[in-house]
Amino acid sequence: MPVDLESILRPIDNPMPPFPAKHMTIASGEEMTIRQVTRDEIPDILPHVAPLMYVERDFYDVVAARVYAELMSYYTHRIQDAYVLIAQIDGELCAVVNGRMVSGDVGMSLHTLAMRRGLRIGAHAFAAKMEYHMDIMGQKEVLIVAESPIGFRRWMIASTSRTSWAVCRRGH
Ligand SMILES: CC(C)(COP(=O)(O)OP(=O)(O)OC[C@H]1O[C@@H](n2cnc3c(N)ncnc32)[C@H](O)[C@@H]1OP(=O)(O)O)[C@@H](O)C(=O)NCCC(=O)NCCS
Repeated sequence: MPVDLESILRPIDNPMPPFPAKHMTIASGEEMTIRQVTRDEIPDILPHVAPLMYVERDFYDVVAARVYAELMSYYTHRIQDAYVLIAQIDGELCAVVNGRMVSGDVGMSLHTLAMRRGLRIGAHAFAAKMEYHMDIMGQKEVLIVAESPIGFRRWMIASTSRTSWAVCRRGH
């Protein structure tokens, strides 16, 4: 009898509530939407992340490489309980953020990558991710890590700490 290897390799996702799309006016006066994407949208996002793997500035290269791998993992069902949110202005992709559920009470922020700079788009997208964990999923704690000085300033210093966000070593 043939063994269905895929059923062994593929993690079984736990149910997660959908992220309701958010709309906001950013500093430029433009309207930005932050919404959840489905697996079948991932191939459209990858070509926008790939060039950033070669940007040797502000840690875009390492963060983009990790985001690319995580998007592929999500697309190919090689990561459990993960989600991807994107920010768009006039349909143009301007940020990708992702994370995962660790348990019912604990979430993990994976990465934040902003494609347009100077408008705090990344900070808005990060905040949406925290809202997803705290307000929509009702989690008590989100594990976050900063990989770049800008990220550190945004997440650890500028963000208002609502609950017991735990800063963790990269363990994923
Ligand atoms: C971290 C990140 C998500 C923040 O995005 P953001 O909130 O939209 O931030 P902004 O682009 O508005 O501003 C970032 C900084 O770049 C500066 N900046 C703005 N426009 C710029 C430009 N065209 N070129 C270079 N720097 C620019 C800003 O002055 C700001 O500096 P500050 O932190 O001293 O205020 C984004 O910088 C990014 O994707 N970085 C690469 C990946 C990364 O580090 N991710 C986070 C890992 S923890």
